[in-house]
Amino acid sequence: MAVLICGGAGYVGSHNVRAFKEHGEDVIVVDSLETGHRASVPEDVKFYQEDIRNGEALDKIFAENQVEAVVHFCAYSLVGESMELPLKYFDNNVGGMISLLEAMHRHNVKRIIFSSTAATYGEPKRVPILETDPTEPTNPYGESKRIMEKMMKWVSSQHDIRYVSLRYFNVAGAWRDGTIGEDHKVETHLIPLILQVPLGKREHITIYGDDYPTNDGTCIRDYIHVEDLARAHLLALNYLRDGGESNIFNLGSGDGYSVMEMITAAREVTGHPIPAVIGTRRAGDPAKLVADSTKAGKILRWKPEITKMQDIIASAWKWHKSHPKGYED
Ligand code: UFG
Repeated sequence: MAVLICGGAGYVGSHNVRAFKEHGEDVIVVDSLETGHRASVPEDVKFYQEDIRNGEALDKIFAENQVEAVVHFCAYSLVGESMELPLKYFDNNVGGMISLLEAMHRHNVKRIIFSSTAATYGEPKRVPILETDPTEPTNPYGESKRIMEKMMKWVSSQHDIRYVSLRYFNVAGAWRDGTIGEDHKVETHLIPLILQVPLGKREHITIYGDDYPTNDGTCIRDYIHVEDLARAHLLALNYLRDGGESNIFNLGSGDGYSVMEMITAAREVTGHPIPAVIGTRRAGDPAKLVADSTKAGKILRWKPEITKMQDIIASAWKWHKSHPKGYED
């Protein structure tokens, strides 16, 4: 029986493909390649270039393969773009989920692991954030993911499909051998942008505000290594296989690092001075986002292993240094 990885050519998806293969799982990938990269998926993995909103294409995939479970990463994920083009996000993210759940129901596939986000919480009332805390997304991206979670909940009770939704905090790093990593057409994330300075692609990193109510005035985030994240998906699949009920888990390290601390760590790792310039705040950035992942520890027995910030940045650096043009190299 195979595991269908939807969006397996994206950043988080491609690392999951590696991890699942490494654990002896039979994986199949479907990806539209609109934002994903064919080169990030090993040649020996069965690959379908399709948009999951196409129900007929999904029918073909489910008919040609014995699919036991789905791991779902297909989504647009740019917060800023989602504010400008909300319907693009609802169409792709929510529309994709409708099509996928319908196809799963048609083909009697009963398990799904879903890639969710801390953005479902919006501006937190307290940190660390618990799964039971209010979800009030502050942008259409986070809203679309929350709607997708709710859809799984209603469909699961009606159609006997069980799901695990994993709410990631700030995903970072790359596969240990540096052969796959983060490559977005439009890069908005802190670590790849910092590393563009030692790569000679930008003169400095801009810090989006140093007047937040934190120790050094810059925003605090909870960074989680992409390999630790992939391990959580495997544990979630085995949890469902063992009969676990539908559930939602936060995935973070529980430790917060400020933007300033991240830049300092990147200077240590790269040996480059990485000049930093203080800019204005980016709209919608909460001061502090840190996960309480106790539940994932207790129920999934998940514990992040790569937690030192220098190690996370070093792993990203290994990929970026060897692929300055991303998958074009
Ligand atoms: N930042 C800078 N300068 C930059 C880029 C980012 O100072 O050039 C700061 C941001 O203001 C923020 C921190 O670095 O304080 C991290 O920013 P990222 O864009 O790397 O990540 P976010 O915390 O904004 O976003 C992450 C995920 C999103 C998810 C969100 C949930 O990448 O998918 O968490 O809040 F929606």
